[in-house]
Amino acid sequence: ALVYEWSGLTQLGKALEQQLGLQHVLVVPGDYNDDETVLTLLGKEAAQQFLSTIANEQVVAVTGGKSVASLAQFLQPVDHQQNITFVAARGGIGHEMHMQANTLVATFAMQMDAQHRTLFLPEHLSEQAYQAMLTEPMVTEIMAYYDRADCVIHGIGSAEEMAIRRNTSAEDLRILEEKGAVSEAFGYYFNAEGQIVHRIRTIGIQLEQVEKCKHIIAVAAGKQKVNAMLSYFKVAPKQTIFITDEAAAKAIAERL
Ligand code: F6P
Repeated sequence: ALVYEWSGLTQLGKALEQQLGLQHVLVVPGDYNDDETVLTLLGKEAAQQFLSTIANEQVVAVTGGKSVASLAQFLQPVDHQQNITFVAARGGIGHEMHMQANTLVATFAMQMDAQHRTLFLPEHLSEQAYQAMLTEPMVTEIMAYYDRADCVIHGIGSAEEMAIRRNTSAEDLRILEEKGAVSEAFGYYFNAEGQIVHRIRTIGIQLEQVEKCKHIIAVAAGKQKVNAMLSYFKVAPKQTIFITDEAAAKAIAERL
């Protein structure tokens, strides 16, 4: 029965791949919103995908969040892969230390015997501070990494949840709502049509840099994120490999 179940999920993944126009969609059984252990399956699958794509000398940009964090325990050194560098995809000193990009790149690098680069900056910079940062050597160094990134591992969030998690100001919350923000990824907020409606003013990887990457691993699960997923996949680069759970995959299939 289990084999049958998995093969059904493979079919579902294939159908979504075509409909969403992505390179690969992998579906793990269960519903993350009901059962947090689904995250372990998600992390294992995503880590396997990542380890099979990574090559020597590559730069991997990593975002924060629980979904991306789920890869950590399944990462391990791979013999023929050397000089891999994990880079925090955005500067941040958020509240949730254990799942912010800076922490994850350090953990991933330790697991894989690789290098990492962090960027500790406030979540929201004033325009003046942002402009000043652009000339700081530690910032220009990390931006050079973004420019030559080969791979991105990222999460997708609902705009509302992320705005709350980030203690977004009342003013910005109002702007997000007014502009119809539905999803968030890499610090960009997108509306239902997949248009960028807002961007957090901090140093981070640009969408154009993500688009240039050879491999993109997107990890997100739970049917509560379905609107966000549908919004983000309107703009997701074609080379994206999406790892999700059964509940989200079925809910997406119903909406397409
Ligand atoms: O804050 C980093 C981030 O990757 C966001 O870009 C994304 O919306 C969110 O985390 C996803 O978090 P989680 O996997 O915990 O739902």
